[in-house]
Amino acid sequence: MCSWLPSAILLSTVFFIGSALLVTDYKEKFIGCNLYPVKVTKSKICEKECRPDGTETLPRGIVTRTTDLEMRPLWGPPKKKKSKSPMNLLAIAVGIKQKQNVNEIVKKFPLAEFGIMLFHYDGNVDGWRDLKWSDSIVHVSAINQTKWWFAKRFLHPDIVAAYDYIFLWDEDLIVQYFHVGRYLSIIKKEGLQISQPAIDADKSENHYKLTAREINSTVHRRAVNIHGPGRRCFENSMEPPCTGFVEMMAPVFSRESWRCAWHMIQNDLVHAWGLDFQLGYCAQGNRTANVGIVDSEYLIHKGIPTLGGSAGSLTNAEVERLASNKGLQATSTLEESDVRVAVRRESYMELDNFKNRWRKAVREDECWVDPFHQHVKPN
Ligand SMILES: *[C@@H]1O[C@H](CO)[C@@H](O)[C@H](O)[C@H]1NC(C)=O
Ligand SMILES: *[C@@H]1O[C@H](CO)[C@@H](O)[C@H](O)[C@H]1NC(C)=O
Ligand SMILES: *[C@@H]1O[C@H](CO)[C@@H](O)[C@H](O)[C@H]1NC(C)=O
Repeated sequence: MCSWLPSAILLSTVFFIGSALLVTDYKEKFIGCNLYPVKVTKSKICEKECRPDGTETLPRGIVTRTTDLEMRPLWGPPKKKKSKSPMNLLAIAVGIKQKQNVNEIVKKFPLAEFGIMLFHYDGNVDGWRDLKWSDSIVHVSAINQTKWWFAKRFLHPDIVAAYDYIFLWDEDLIVQYFHVGRYLSIIKKEGLQISQPAIDADKSENHYKLTAREINSTVHRRAVNIHGPGRRCFENSMEPPCTGFVEMMAPVFSRESWRCAWHMIQNDLVHAWGLDFQLGYCAQGNRTANVGIVDSEYLIHKGIPTLGGSAGSLTNAEVERLASNKGLQATSTLEESDVRVAVRRESYMELDNFKNRWRKAVREDECWVDPFHQHVKPN
């Protein structure tokens, strides 16, 4: 009797502390749930259930959280033959001036395996109707909006949840040396969450060593650029644009990486400058391993300055005028090149803005840990 009493006390103390820990854990886990009346059934205690925001008053089975962009017939079975392989999505912001080139791009993406969406920034939708595929795809029109503006508004992760990979491309890419089937099998095999076809640097406007095509290579994940021009990159550089980086003109996202990237796109920063440098945070782990450039399927980038392409592209003369800060006329009489200068200037302002927001977010989020710099955050 005397010998087991202390151990009984000890045991119950342990049990008490243990359950206290359990309770805290439980509370943290289910915080925010349980706002509505709950029922206790024979088989289940329902107060533990966490239901998606807004659906608390609905029975679970009727809740349809995600959708796709597939068109459905008014009656009968869907016209589009259901492909056995999973679906992917191609989205391009387009203007009628690039119709022929966009036609070439779209023809490379089999309709049976791809949802296709055109974002018309010039409001001209009818001009595309003579193309064979035009009635089989989704058209969205909003005047003078950029690819990122459209993507933020029409490619919410829950809307595109059906697609394995999302191609968010510019309209001025030449696809002569690109085969989408081979591309997909390469990125799956290599485990690339974020990727882009390499850019043929000899024939293109190309800004980064990393995204330039390497001859006789299938995929590469880092660039060495010891002497410049541009940012210096060494064998052991761990940061974009040396590794873990793609450009904004032809990114391809996995479903999971897009779910992350969509959240990072800012509503008001429509040129999205600076986003490319942070995309590695959406790589679902090691950005050096999971972000890559596919050399064997590559593109030529024309660099035509449009809203569906590199809106900030300028001629040398325009850059000079921007640098000297002269020549930007009153907004009522903007000429085409003035528009470009203005867009470029806006893009730089957005870049600053985005960097500041990122820094502020890092400062203010006490719980965030930078996966790529695991040292203690300075205050
Ligand atoms: C769209 O932008 C162009 C310049 O690129 C401008 O001339 C035109 O007026 C704008 N349209 C609208 C509706 O704002
Ligand atoms: C690429 O490979 C081919 C044949 O394998 C070879 O002849 C050629 O020299 C290689 N080119 C480069 C740039 O390595
Ligand atoms: C990330 O991946 C690269 C390339 O596969 C590898 O060399 C590196 O060691 C990895 N880093 C970590 C932290 O796992």
